[in-house]
Amino acid sequence: MIRIARSVVLPRSGRRFAAFQHSSSSSYSSSSSTDRPSSHATVGNKDSVAETAPHFASITVLGGGQMGAGIAQTAATFNYTVNLVDMSDDALSRGQGYIIKSLKRVAKMRFKGDEPQQSRFVDDVLSRIKLSTDTESAAAGADLIIEAIIEQIETKRAVFGVLDKVAPAEAILASNTSSLPIGAIGEAVGDKRKGQLAGLHFFNPVPQMKLVEIVRTERTTDETIDRLRAFAKSIDKAPVLCRDTPGFIVNRLLVPYLAEAIRMLERGDATAEDIDTAMKCGAGYPMGPFQLLDYVGLDTVKFILDGWYKEGEGLAGSDLVRPSEKLDELVRNGRLGVKSGAGFYDY
Ligand code: CAA
Ligand code: NAD
Repeated sequence: MIRIARSVVLPRSGRRFAAFQHSSSSSYSSSSSTDRPSSHATVGNKDSVAETAPHFASITVLGGGQMGAGIAQTAATFNYTVNLVDMSDDALSRGQGYIIKSLKRVAKMRFKGDEPQQSRFVDDVLSRIKLSTDTESAAAGADLIIEAIIEQIETKRAVFGVLDKVAPAEAILASNTSSLPIGAIGEAVGDKRKGQLAGLHFFNPVPQMKLVEIVRTERTTDETIDRLRAFAKSIDKAPVLCRDTPGFIVNRLLVPYLAEAIRMLERGDATAEDIDTAMKCGAGYPMGPFQLLDYVGLDTVKFILDGWYKEGEGLAGSDLVRPSEKLDELVRNGRLGVKSGAGFYDY
């Protein structure tokens, strides 16, 4: 039974991207976007919208947490129709809250002082995002499905098993996993689908971060990679291609750095505040490691470290990814970072 189509807000304008048509500034140039990418994306500017092609008629995003909400928002900003699925109405309204907050922020920056235009922009984007708790129905009508649920392999596998059965034969299935092997998640799908399975790894905050890692398994076809690359470009991201190895590119470098910062704190070498100040002022990072840990989510970081320490290719048993007692304790106490209101810091 189809239970999708629950609009987030009432669509007000029949004109798609009406809000963008008043934009005059753009820092994005299509010819140079992937050759010389800036680290941050412009959010839905006029030029990139103009070149947006309907690479997929309907996109389903599973998981309405910080990443799924950001992916849905970004795709909808670039004119895609999106179904956003989570397990409960509460989770969906939390996801909707993330999207509205982020869109308002973007709108304020893009249409300074023009409140009617700001709210038209927000409503226009929201009108393309439908909320649902029904995975099967949402998947049945999608030609691209992006999974962004909790970082647990058994849960992801179970979901991909269902997706494979209900999604149209030509649909691409992608995972936004931070650390799990795409091939291992994909063991749940049938042989025919394996060529249409890949990683599509976005970065937090999705509307702002320019990078998307496209992860190819041994079975992913060139056509799938080409379609995902075209999709990433159509939403103004800079795609890079990588093999299916733990952490792909960014997290393979970033997670050991974050883990070392926690070890530094545990050894009592410096306070979290001073380590953050040091990395911001001494290394030019936009956030210190503890701010970033809280921003990413401590449960997610714990899942990554536990998984890699146990069985990460080339990382199992390595001190680089040794689980941390401090991290375990914070997660046990529900201090998951910004999303739960407290982590290493209080929010
Ligand atoms: N939605 C939309 N736009 C947002 C946003 C959001 N949630 N958060 C920030 N922005 C935009 C702001 O609108 C602003 O845009 P302009 O520059 O065009 O005005 C810009 O980002 C900067 O925002 P602020 O000035 O308010 O704040 P800031 O300068 O402190 O930047 C930040 C915020 C972009 C998050 C910056 O601190 C940053 O880049 N931090 C590092 C983030 C990072 O490393 N992300 C990767 C995490 S790892 C990961 O994602 C992979 C994984 O698998 C775990
Ligand atoms: P989150 O905890 O904010 O959200 C996860 C959401 O998935 C929750 O709303 C939960 O209710 C939902 N969910 C769980 N099981 C589900 C199911 N079976 N069907 C539908 N929804 C389900 O987590 P997040 O930070 O958004 O991370 C999601 C994924 O993205 C993880 O795989 C994570 O590793 C990856 N990722 C996270 C970041 C980050 O910085 N947080 C960055 C890149 C990738």
